[in-house]
Amino acid sequence: MKKIAMFGTGYVGLVNGACLAHIGHSVLCCDIDDRKIGTLNAGRIPIYEPGLDLIVRSAVTEGKLAFTSDLAAAVERSDLLFIAVGTPMGHDGAADLRYVQAVAEFIGRHLRTPKTVVVKSTVPVGTSRKVERWIAGQMADPSVRFDVASNPEFLREGSAVSDFLNMERCIVGADREETIEEVASCFAPLDVPIHRTGRESAEMIKYAANAFLATKISFINAIANLCERMGADVEDVAEGIGSDSRIGRSFLKAGIGYGGSCFPKDTHALRWMAENAGYAFPLLEAVIRTNREQKFVLLGKLAEAVGSLQGTKIGVLGLAFKPNTDDMREAPSLDIVPALLGGGAEVRVYDPVAMEEARKAFGEEVTYASDPYEAIAGCDACLILTEWPQFLELDLDRVRELLKRPILLDGRNCFPPERMRRHFLTYYSVGREPVVFEPSEQYA
Ligand code: UGA
Repeated sequence: MKKIAMFGTGYVGLVNGACLAHIGHSVLCCDIDDRKIGTLNAGRIPIYEPGLDLIVRSAVTEGKLAFTSDLAAAVERSDLLFIAVGTPMGHDGAADLRYVQAVAEFIGRHLRTPKTVVVKSTVPVGTSRKVERWIAGQMADPSVRFDVASNPEFLREGSAVSDFLNMERCIVGADREETIEEVASCFAPLDVPIHRTGRESAEMIKYAANAFLATKISFINAIANLCERMGADVEDVAEGIGSDSRIGRSFLKAGIGYGGSCFPKDTHALRWMAENAGYAFPLLEAVIRTNREQKFVLLGKLAEAVGSLQGTKIGVLGLAFKPNTDDMREAPSLDIVPALLGGGAEVRVYDPVAMEEARKAFGEEVTYASDPYEAIAGCDACLILTEWPQFLELDLDRVRELLKRPILLDGRNCFPPERMRRHFLTYYSVGREPVVFEPSEQYA
């Protein structure tokens, strides 16, 4: 059992802290945000993540997990200090390292006994060496030994707890073998393959993984756009290429582009790193551009189906960047809803969990519905932007009856198009032929 301090109680810190406690370690999660620590100590979880509340509660009850804003005490009592603070995107696309630097310097000022510092935050290649310098630069006693490792994170929002407990691989990068073993031992209860690398490689693995997945998504979205023009069906194409094990079926779901706090930020940061290293990386450039444009493909179809937006009423289902999270960072809804409003439409929105986030983004400019049917009642068209499971279960006859015009635009390919014909709906999706309802069909 290790004594671990987790700096940062955001998404990565909280999930990792709770899960490391769950597998037997003694974890102190710390944050400079007193309010957040107060919320956590009151037993409330500030983010929506399935299963996290249960793990936190049981680890706290067993005395394995605690929350504090006393960062100095956390440094003193722990053997491993994980840095899991945010690295937001700066205006030039580079990762903003100010929080990582602040934690590193804090650790330096409070280092009295040997420690291992583990960088969990997503940081540009070369940062863990900077962390070492930032710590060393603040140490009162330079003879105290410490080492810095890189241990990048691969959890997905919405399934983070199960991703941690069923981890496929764990990357540990450090210069010294003992440091790698020390960090690897934290994950021993998971029986996960450990990839031992240098620090730069570990840092690069994180960016390369996210950029590769983003590339798969942009690739299938480009193929989808081509399918539409050539009479092919992207779902069949994805199945057909994905069953080749060299390609793989995952991350080939066509839609309205990737969002969230990771792919957009990390692809931009990698582009910035490449530029700085004197490499243009045109492939990555195209991935980013394809994704930017993909967010708007549904609007072209909407124009085709309803004409001018002026004076129309549009129902939007799904605001989060993907299902099972309330996170709206870089969500396609953040571009699509303002475009609808800008075109003169009245917009009614519904999301199963992201309504509070939506209010922060859209204020009083849209109408908030309490269920999907209320959102689409009397609307000229319904747009699906997130594939929440409850939308897949929609009663399509009811949808048909509630809509003023029977038009459904699906940015996530939630339904087989042939089903729409049976429900007399005009249906546009991504990479598939539209189904256009002719009133005469209903009475045939
Ligand atoms: C992503 C990675 O999958 C994690 O491995 C990584 O740890 C995380 O970023 C991170 O860097 O912290 P996440 O952003 O939570 O995780 O979500 P994903 O499930 O990867 O989805 C990202 C976006 O891609 C979503 O908007 C989703 O709708 C979209 N997507 C995903 C597609 O459009 N098509 C697909 O086939 C898959």
